[in-house]
Amino acid sequence: MQVQEHTESPEAGPPLSERSIVLVGLMGAGKSTVGRRLANAVKLPFHDADHEIETAAGCSISDFFERYGEPAFREGERKVITRLLAGPRHVLATGGGAFMDPTTRVLIKRMGFSVWLRADIGLLMERVLKRPTRPLLKNDDPRATMERLMAERYPVYAEADLTVDSNGGPHDAIVQRILAHLTAIGVKAS
Ligand code: S3P
Repeated sequence: MQVQEHTESPEAGPPLSERSIVLVGLMGAGKSTVGRRLANAVKLPFHDADHEIETAAGCSISDFFERYGEPAFREGERKVITRLLAGPRHVLATGGGAFMDPTTRVLIKRMGFSVWLRADIGLLMERVLKRPTRPLLKNDDPRATMERLMAERYPVYAEADLTVDSNGGPHDAIVQRILAHLTAIGVKAS
């Protein structure tokens, strides 16, 4: 587990202890499952950005990509995350590309406490291949795509406030590690 230096200042957004907890990381890292369980443990509402986009658009993420393309998806994602982070404190699972968008990243850094769920290629592929719905991986070599995304994204995900390894163990163990850390740094855990 790694922690970023974090200086609190009012201009930089709300105090850490009052911020929503935002899970970032690649497809298959377990953001939604861990997020839901973490929310339950800290008694906060849970939101899934992808799900909110699907509700707002009235179609699946896959259909959205096909009909409108990735830039329109990123714009929708920015709007949804802006709206959620302006609302009451909650736990938010973001889609894998959200933290890569510079505007969304600045927003998450200012308004949220970000947690990167880091996982290795084997675990990610095992998970995403079980549910082959993700538009970015619908190609002849999803593993090569995932490797490219890891190379591009891991240095940026590393800017999250907290990095937790999701090593394929039980999701609840990851939740406990996040909770221990939140308590240690005074982020309210309930
Ligand atoms: C994406 C990840 C997906 C979804 C979209 C794009 C990405 O979310 O937002 O398919 O760019 O990595 P998950 O990380 O929840 O699969």
